[in-house]
Amino acid sequence: MTQDDMKKAVAAAALEEIRGQIHADSVIGIGTGSTANHFIDQLAALKGKFRATVASSEASAERLRGHGIEVIDLNDVKELPFYIDGADEANLQLALVKGGGAALTREKIVAACAKEFICIADESKAVETLGKFPIPVEVIPMARNYVMRKLEKLGGRPVYREGVITDNGNIILDVHGLNITDPKAMEIEMNSIVGVVTNGIFACRSADLLLLASPTGVRRLSV
Ligand code: A5P
Repeated sequence: MTQDDMKKAVAAAALEEIRGQIHADSVIGIGTGSTANHFIDQLAALKGKFRATVASSEASAERLRGHGIEVIDLNDVKELPFYIDGADEANLQLALVKGGGAALTREKIVAACAKEFICIADESKAVETLGKFPIPVEVIPMARNYVMRKLEKLGGRPVYREGVITDNGNIILDVHGLNITDPKAMEIEMNSIVGVVTNGIFACRSADLLLLASPTGVRRLSV
């Protein structure tokens, strides 16, 4: 079984998870990345059984529309029962690192609005301690060097992601070398640096359910 097969399998498991809980008025929050893309492709089979979606990136919105699935503005949504998205790392407390695809800020906003955040990942994303995957940080362009200096003071090695502009018109710094023993504290500390829009640690609002695919099946983890 390839990693892509596992991503497809975990997307299918997420679809089964929500199938019996959505109705004609439901709006579903949709993440970004290759695992979320599999979910989008499979969600097309449930068209007509929910009202619309909210997307965490322009890329996901385009893919959803390509399937004829309606995408609406988050501001027009009263209730968001589910947010389904992938991750770059997940620990057993269901804290995550996200933003490998540069969509972290919108992902964090949609996740914050959702009643249930279902994270879908293959087993390669499971870690004991977050931080091996460099932490993406979305930064206002003019603050780049200032924020880099502050991140160095936190013990990290920030690297400017060349050529990437987020959907919000900002840049990404990837912070290497952090051993994150207290994800909530690190998330809050990084977010308190002036010029940081947000960072890719999802600990203050972690996942509610982690579906983790391996070659032998999909495990269901919650805290
Ligand atoms: C997008 O910004 C990310 O948060 C993705 O959710 C994350 O990088 C996982 O991507 P894959 O599903 O492609 O591994």
